[in-house]
Amino acid sequence: MTMIKESYPVKADDMTSAGDVSARIKRQMKQLGIPASVVRRVSVGTYEAEINLVIHSDGGRIDFEISPEKITIRVVDQGPGIPDLKKAMTEGWSTASNEVRNMGFGAGMGLPNMKRNADEFDIQSTVGVGTDITMIFNI
Ligand SMILES: Nc1ncnc2c1ncn2[C@@H]1O[C@H](COP(=O)(O)OP(=O)(O)O)[C@@H](O)[C@H]1O
Ligand SMILES: [Mg+2]
Repeated sequence: MTMIKESYPVKADDMTSAGDVSARIKRQMKQLGIPASVVRRVSVGTYEAEINLVIHSDGGRIDFEISPEKITIRVVDQGPGIPDLKKAMTEGWSTASNEVRNMGFGAGMGLPNMKRNADEFDIQSTVGVGTDITMIFNI
């Protein structure tokens, strides 16, 4: 049984609204009485994924689904895709520009943190097509 299923677009390069979708999802989880530890883990994963859409992708969307036993976050973008997933998953590895780093992003911890916080983590990426991430958090 699905209680909530929503999809939010995320624009590329739009730093002013970066974080808005994850903040909204966090608010909804709190309103539904999801345990604080779960809210925290989902929020970290969703925020990192959202920032990656803004700073690395050509734009995409975040799907958010809650059932009584789990929260599913799916993050899909329209490119450019990740050439080497193993490198991308390495702590501290980042292709972020100096401009992005000066804004406080690009520590290379986003993908490792998503994997660490989720109970299930799957990433598929094809250069020229895009990246598709699914994170599942047990409630
Ligand atoms: N949605 C994406 N589209 C294209 N490349 C991505 C995407 N997400 C991550 N990457 C690549 O993987 C690298 C590591 O990502 P991450 O661990 O979040 O670190 P950071 O965002 O700080 O660079 C990024 O620097 C980028 O090269
Ligand atoms: Mg990142």
